[in-house]
Amino acid sequence: MRIAVIPGDGIGKEVTAEAVKAIEAAAAVTGERLELQTLPWSADHYLSTGVSMPPNGYAMLRDDFDAALLGALGDPRVPDNRHIRDILLGIRFELDLYVNYRPVRLLDERLCPLKDRGKSDVNFVVFRENTEGAYVGVGGRFKAGTPDEIAVQEEINTFKGVNRIIRHAFEYAVARGLKKVCMADKSNAMIHGHALWLRVFREVAAEYPQIDATQMYVDALAMFLVKDPGMFQVIVTNNMFGDIVTDIGGALQGGLGMAASGNIHPGRTSLFEPVHGSAPPLAGKNVANPMGAMLSAALLLETIGKADAAALIERAVEAAVLAGQTTPDIGGKLGTREVGDWVAGKVRAHG
Ligand code: NAD
Ligand code: IPM
Ligand code: MN
Repeated sequence: MRIAVIPGDGIGKEVTAEAVKAIEAAAAVTGERLELQTLPWSADHYLSTGVSMPPNGYAMLRDDFDAALLGALGDPRVPDNRHIRDILLGIRFELDLYVNYRPVRLLDERLCPLKDRGKSDVNFVVFRENTEGAYVGVGGRFKAGTPDEIAVQEEINTFKGVNRIIRHAFEYAVARGLKKVCMADKSNAMIHGHALWLRVFREVAAEYPQIDATQMYVDALAMFLVKDPGMFQVIVTNNMFGDIVTDIGGALQGGLGMAASGNIHPGRTSLFEPVHGSAPPLAGKNVANPMGAMLSAALLLETIGKADAAALIERAVEAAVLAGQTTPDIGGKLGTREVGDWVAGKVRAHG
């Protein structure tokens, strides 16, 4: 199996190094033969070569690798975020990774920012549509930089795109014996695009009578996520709403440093990354929490059929949380590398 590793920018590089340690430790225990290859795509690479992503980059990922692990992208020296668009959004679009899977699971109640809430209250998944919506870059600016500027940014919703992510959410629920799927939209204001979401959700829900299917406006969803997250099992929503609510999901798990994700096209090369970004204020200080990246590595391994190796990493991360062997954002005293060493050591000791 071949895994592409794209450390990226800022803390992305630091957390990826620790996730790689965890993968290597897990592979050594389970005897998996994994070949990891680091790709340099990042702001540094873009600024020094002028190339954000080589022309054959997407095809190479798709054809030569079984999965990819990304740290984060984002650098103040690239103010138009060109390289984020080409690398991160480019991979999502070009590889058609339409499922953005973002599990939200609290590992220890001490990490929960909500009063009187515990592990059973924070345990749901978000499926974020990942190939269209407000992210497609359709639009333009007219008379830019003048008092008459007009900026148009279209949101694209297609039957194909909406249907496949909603179906995926229901299928996931059924496969895991879950009972509830909630779809969040803003069809009271987005009267065209989100009417499509509402229509497709109702049609698909009718095929799954065993599932309690509810629709919520996204503003109400944001409120309930904070007030009573235990009411959710599976949430499905569009690209931008999914981006926003999964940062709330990160906070519910103890902070963005804990949150994992997968950009998935079932059966094809998929991309795994922590939910957080490059966090410029933390970069280079050995303080970033590597657990979201490690848990993303576990999702990667699980997705390529290495469930045993994935479970070793998940158990070791959980053990580190319980033992307080963590970075300061979740209450510990260790640095990024030291957490990585602790988790890799725990993996090698077979959990
Ligand atoms: P961010 O997620 O990078 O950081 C926001 C804050 O969350 C940080 O200042 C820090 O307090 C906390 N945080 C995030 N990750 C953490 C970690 N691992 N450990 C401890 N604390 C952590 O979001 P931002 O500041 O809005 O964005 C910074 C850059 O990252 C921007 O360029 C943005 O576009 C980019 N970004 C990239 C990705 C990605 O590559 N997937 C995701 C989000 C943002
Ligand atoms: C994420 C990030 C990206 C997104 C940015 C960097 C474009 O916030 O993966 O959550 O909005 O999808
Ligand atoms: Mn985000």
